[in-house]
Amino acid sequence: MQKSVCALVCAAAAALAAPALQAAPEAVSGATVKVNIQGGAMPENVDAVTSASVVPEKLRQKIVPNGFTRDGKAKRVLFVVGDPRHESVEWDLVNTAAKHFMEKGLEVEIRDLYKIGFNPVLPLESFFHAKDGFGPAPKDVAVEQLIVSAADYIVFCYPNWHDSPNAITKGYTERVFSKQFAYRDTEKGLEGLLKDKGIFLIMNAGWVGMGRGSVGDGIPQKAGEKSNPIWDSYMTAYKTVWDDTAGFWGVKNLGQFVNDRTPGNHDADYAEKLQKLRDDLKASLDRNFGLK
Ligand SMILES: Cc1cc2nc3c(=O)[nH]c(=O)nc-3n(C[C@H](O)[C@H](O)[C@H](O)COP(=O)(O)O)c2cc1C
Repeated sequence: MQKSVCALVCAAAAALAAPALQAAPEAVSGATVKVNIQGGAMPENVDAVTSASVVPEKLRQKIVPNGFTRDGKAKRVLFVVGDPRHESVEWDLVNTAAKHFMEKGLEVEIRDLYKIGFNPVLPLESFFHAKDGFGPAPKDVAVEQLIVSAADYIVFCYPNWHDSPNAITKGYTERVFSKQFAYRDTEKGLEGLLKDKGIFLIMNAGWVGMGRGSVGDGIPQKAGEKSNPIWDSYMTAYKTVWDDTAGFWGVKNLGQFVNDRTPGNHDADYAEKLQKLRDDLKASLDRNFGLK
């Protein structure tokens, strides 16, 4: 009896879940090819049928960061990247931004979190270091703190996986931006310790209301709209979270470049669309970082 009740409940739950899955943002992603592979083996032509973005090989960029020098004359930009797939549009945006900063005379470092095997989990052993600044920083955290200290700008880059920094990037903020390094208590309250630095977000998304840029840059859905309210509410949410974090650390939030107009993987005019995306990102960086 118990078993059959459970079977009924489980079947009902599965039936309820099905429409929700179809309505998920991924289903309307610009990169999405409308095929539905339900479980089973990995398809051989995964590049052709994935709903993830895949930049065609001939259009991929390989960028070598020029690195931070010791003389400190040029502004230094640190990219903290949490994306396992180097063929993604997210990585194309990282490479586009890194190249643009270098062309404008800035120094660039890229921390590829998957490549360096960054451990994002804040464990019990170093919990009180992160929370209160007690004890020495774990070795891997100390390395990252040196690099963060040297940077003028920190650009966080990750694909939108459930509307928050993805796990590896979020873990970087939890472990590296620890108390006594990024902020401390004073008699007047919390003091951010990373003054004179700026942060920025570059995020590729599947569907956040249609737009490119930040608040106010949505594609209007009705006559008379300048942006669109769905896009603006997503952008305001992301901005609010990063504004709050910036306040903690004492840094300035310079803004965000979010894209949910990814070219479809098989669009005939893919190259033009990708170029437009790169140009839009560069214009956003020029504006937000005051580049000339
Ligand atoms: C685990 C997971 C969760 C996702 N959640 C969202 C989401 O909440 N909102 C969204 O817009 N896209 C979501 N997506 C879709 C990705 O943002 C989308 O595939 C986008 O193309 C990612 O950028 P990339 O292809 O450059 O890596 C999700 C993708 C994954 C893998």
